[in-house]
Amino acid sequence: MIKIGTIQELREQLRPYRHQKIGLVPTMGYLHEGHLSLVKKARETCDIIVMSIFVNPLQFGPGEDFERYPRDIARDEQLAEKEGVDILFTPSVEEMYPSPVKTTVHVKGITDTLCGASRPGHFDGVATVVSKLFHIVQPDYAFFGQKDAQQVAVIEQMVQDLNMPVDIIPCPIVREADGLAMSSRNVYLSPEEREQATVLYQSMQEAKRKIEQGESDAFRIRSLIMQKIREKKLAEIDYVEVLTYPGLEPIADIGGKRIIIALAVKFGQTRLIDNMIFNL
Ligand code: PAF
Repeated sequence: MIKIGTIQELREQLRPYRHQKIGLVPTMGYLHEGHLSLVKKARETCDIIVMSIFVNPLQFGPGEDFERYPRDIARDEQLAEKEGVDILFTPSVEEMYPSPVKTTVHVKGITDTLCGASRPGHFDGVATVVSKLFHIVQPDYAFFGQKDAQQVAVIEQMVQDLNMPVDIIPCPIVREADGLAMSSRNVYLSPEEREQATVLYQSMQEAKRKIEQGESDAFRIRSLIMQKIREKKLAEIDYVEVLTYPGLEPIADIGGKRIIIALAVKFGQTRLIDNMIFNL
């Protein structure tokens, strides 16, 4: 595995491989099985796999966890190499943003809801850095975890609207044995918070059972999930929504649609997100 910190060196390294299939796995590091599943998927289709590790300040709001976001580059290097990453791109903030940013990417509409409503500006930061990474790496394929389902919808929209020549490959959520979706932020949880956090998956599983039994009222599904989450005393709901996917429009009756159940719940300082997508 080659480790690269500058844009120029990355472009030079990739030049001989331009006729091959290049895959990009963009991450913010502190790798877990979820990230590694993206690399595994990339290996099915790509000749060269580039993984980026960059904690992007542009997508963190004031008072969010940019400074304390978990970082362990030595461990990440080992995991990436073991999984078969060919090039690990770890630019500094100065390398990615040498001067204050005057150009950003804003995807309208679908960024106004869910995490976009709770974290104003977050998706502008994501779309801008992903757009930069696409221009730098020029991948044929880019791999994203479906845990960030709204992020996937935003990036797919950006790629379509701006004719970016890259195929977006969404990959399934990877969960711990008790159902908690893998996330770099899970390390923030105290043992008690960690135990109670399993309610996210459990509440969606219960909703899934109800849907399979014929429940199609979005309001009732949402209420059921909220009630279940509120049983946990450390859980503070940010949002629970049942929307169309990928359009993220509110709906009353979910019958015959592709929908997402999306949750964001805080445990102390830690905000966790999770979702399930259904084709009904
Ligand atoms: O999903 C993430 O880790 C980040 O939002 C991404 C896509 C790497 C952009 O910084």
